[in-house]
Order: sequence, then structure tokens, then C-alpha cells
Amino acid sequence: MNFFGKRPLIVYALLCLFISCKNNEKPVSTVKEEMTAATYKEAYRPQFHFSPPQNWMNDPNGLVYHQGIYHLFYQYYPEDSKWGPMHWGHATSEDLVHWEQKPIALFPDEHGYIFSGSAVVDSANSAGFGTIENPPLVAIFTYHDPDGEKAKKKDFQTQGIAYSLDNGDTWVKYEGNPVIGNEGIKDFRDPKVFWYEQDQKWVMALVAGDHLQLWGSADLKSWEKLSEFGHKKGAHGGVWECPDLFKLKVTGSELEKWVLLISINPGAPNGGSGTQYFVGDFDGQRFTTDQEDAKWIDYGTDNYAGVTYNNIPDGERIFIGWMSNWNYAQATPTETWRSAMTLPRTLSLQKIGTGYTLFNYPVAQLNQLVGASEKKDKTLEIGAKDTIPFDHLNQAEIKFKTTSKDFVLSLKNTKGEELVLTITSDQKLFLLDRIVSGKTDFKETFANTIQQMPVDQLPEGEYEVRALIDRSSVEVFLNKGQYVMTAQVFPNEHYQLLEIENTGAAALEITKLTVNAVSKIW
Ligand code: FRU
Repeated sequence: MNFFGKRPLIVYALLCLFISCKNNEKPVSTVKEEMTAATYKEAYRPQFHFSPPQNWMNDPNGLVYHQGIYHLFYQYYPEDSKWGPMHWGHATSEDLVHWEQKPIALFPDEHGYIFSGSAVVDSANSAGFGTIENPPLVAIFTYHDPDGEKAKKKDFQTQGIAYSLDNGDTWVKYEGNPVIGNEGIKDFRDPKVFWYEQDQKWVMALVAGDHLQLWGSADLKSWEKLSEFGHKKGAHGGVWECPDLFKLKVTGSELEKWVLLISINPGAPNGGSGTQYFVGDFDGQRFTTDQEDAKWIDYGTDNYAGVTYNNIPDGERIFIGWMSNWNYAQATPTETWRSAMTLPRTLSLQKIGTGYTLFNYPVAQLNQLVGASEKKDKTLEIGAKDTIPFDHLNQAEIKFKTTSKDFVLSLKNTKGEELVLTITSDQKLFLLDRIVSGKTDFKETFANTIQQMPVDQLPEGEYEVRALIDRSSVEVFLNKGQYVMTAQVFPNEHYQLLEIENTGAAALEITKLTVNAVSKIW
């Protein structure tokens, strides 16, 4: 091709460079390189969980389903594997199991970094960004102005919006940003917006330091404050972050309740970051609950800032959390990237005793990755141990049923490292011990205690025990998600031996035991 033939390309390249620099964006080529650099073979790289191709990731953002695509945006710093000026990274999936990495969706601009938020499908074109025929995706996020923060001002977090007319591939920020200013609340962030059918309006859940604020809007651009909740409710060991508010049917009845998720950091039951929930009612203005005690979606140390998908048909509620903890997130022993997401989990609500319990359990789509080994029944006499060698325990599912609440499961390697899971009927506790699980000394708070979960409401009869273990994580689900623990682990060699010990006062009956490899998704 002669010079003249190439000229339009050169002009186009210069134009792209100009536009991207103007928007404070990186040239498109750099972004593409980042998207392809990962091998997903690095030590500790999750094989069936989502992790970013490179560099730092925290909260899931903008979870929305549109035209057959599940979007996963996330807090992303593309220049380093530690937290920095926040962008929204982007990935998509057709089945919540396999993910395609996409170019960065939102870059910082003159209003600040792009902190956490949500995305909606504006089907009625209420904001006027698209058409009814091609309804836009609208992202609602927090602007964090680092200069204001440095100057010790209190009004440096505001809320902004952006839209996409091509199902999330490219985004345009609204020129009227910010759409909600700040009257002097230091921590004022993480808008979760949803459509409230009954009043035909948008509702935003937003956190303001130690409480929740609800805002309403007809067009996503102009907002009015509706109410506040939580000054004196629930856990307050740290600042409130990443709220979510949604309706769920109570299993086995026609009753509908509203669930409010609130992440807090610090103040979680096993230290650092964690997510509490409230079950109550919402009348379009106010959220109310008679729940007194704090309830937790997950007692493990590594499930934070989790929120749910908007716009999934049939009332299904799917949750994804960030599989880390601010106590040590920036120090974990991975090199080219940092952090992964939890498995996507289906939420459901059950009345247990006098209150409601929020169950969370991996989406059924995940089963396609799990092998189909023969189901075995086992009896272990008092004090007996059984060992099951399995090379792939760091990419596996362990599943069985039992009525016992007295046993120990240990996952071991040949270096003397082990991850120990214990249930004891005496104390009505489930324990997760990663003290000698592998690399732990990168941060004192990582493995200085045994993690505990009260399991006093487990059924009397048979219940399921299921653990999903990836290269650097374990997720344990008791009774299909009634009690859950998620934790990171960094063994120096894969665990290769599963040991089951009967610590009860009667024979341990285990039925339908399977240990299966889980296929990789990358
Ligand atoms: C939660 C959080 C959010 C904030 C984001 C910044 O992990 O602190 O409150 O929007 O991370 O990256």
C-alpha cells in the first residue's frame, strides 16, 4: 500500500489518540494489550473464578443483564497491582461461568476517579439518552475527587452517570454531571439504582458514612432524597459501603420481603471487611425492619462489597462479591494481577425460627464445570479418619450429605500445609483454619485467628456440605447456602489429600460423597 493509501489510517490513528487523550483515556492499543497479556497460568491464578487480566481489581460494579449478556464491571486500576485511580473494568458472559474480557468502560475525568456503582437498562428511555427501540444502559457511579480529599474537604464524593447505546461496549458521560452533589458528607458513595415498578420511578440506595439514604428520580438525572435508614441498626464497626436493596419471595410462600445489603469495613465477624443484611419492607419511600441483630451473608473473611444483578427476568437474584478483605487485599502474594470475584451465587430467602435467613449458593450454571464421579456412602466409627488422595484439590468440588455436626475436613499437601474445616455440635460452630495453609506472612491479619461461624440453626436432619476450592480460594456452603464461608488461601503446593475425621460421639454417616475436578474457564 502506498503512502496515500495509508493516509486515512494514520489520520484515524491520530484522531483516536487525540480523543482518548482528551478524555484522559489511554490509547486503544494499550488497552487491548492489557486485555490479552494474561495467561491465567500464573501461580494462584483462579481457574474457574473471574479475575482481571492484569493489575488491581476490587468491587463488582454495574451488574446488569441486557440482551442475553451478563455484564460485570469492576473497580480497576490498570497501572499497578495495588489500588490506585479507579476505572471501571469490564467483562461479559452469556452463562455467568465463562467470561470475556472487554476494554475499560469508564476512565477518571475532571470530576475524579470512578468509584463503585450500578447499571440499569433504561427501557422507557426516561433519561433521553437513547430510544425506546434501542434502550440505553445507564451507569450510576460515585465520583471521587482526589484533590478535594487531599485538601481535607468533606464534599469530594458526588454521583455521576454515563450511558451506552451499544450494550456496554462504549460509554458517554452525561454532560450535566454530577447528578447528586455533596453537602459535606465525607463517605457518600456506591449508588445502587433499580426501577420501582409500583411508583414508576428509579430508586437509588446510597451510603452516607454510618447510614443508608434512599433517593428517587423519574429520569436518572434529577434526584430527590426520600429517607434515611440505619443510624442505630445493625453493625457499625466501620463505614457503610456498597448498599443493595431488592425484593425476594420467601421460599414456600407468596410473601415478598425486601433485603438490604450493607458492606462494612472494618467490623466484620472475623475481622476487616464483611457484608451484613437486613430483611424488612420498602414502601417506595422508606425501608423498615424489626430485625434487631446483625446478620451476615458470609462469615469468611473474603467476600466483600457484593451486590446483585439488575434486570434478570423471573425475579432471580444473582450476587457477586469481591473475594478479598481490605485488611490485606493489597499484600496478597500474586504478581501480575490482584484479586478475584466470588462465584456468582443465587440468593433466596427462608423463614427460619422467628426471622428470615438469606441463603446464597452457586448458580446452577456452574455445575457444567464439575465432573461426575461416582457418589459414595461412608461410615466412620468414633475417632476414625479416612483419607482420600486427589491431585486436583486446588481446582475441585467436595460434596456430601450428613446429619452429623462433629467432623473435621483437612485439605493437605506434602509440605505439611493444611486448610482445616471443623464443625462442632458442642459450640454450634463451624471453623475455618488457614493458620498453616501456605503463605500467610504477607500480612499479620491474614491468618492470626481461626475464623468462626455460628451454625445454631442448621437443620436437625440431613444437610449438604459443599466446598469449591480454586487455586487460591475456598468457598464452603452448608445446607445449600444457609451458612457460607469464603476465604483466600495460598498453599505453596496444591493440596492433594482430603482427610475426614469423625470427632463426634457416634458413627459418622456420610452419603453421596463426591470429590470432583472442576474444569477451567480460561
Ligand atoms: C469498597 C469501596 C467502595 C468504593 C470503592 C473504591 O471496597 O471502598 O466504597 O466505592 O471501594 O475503590
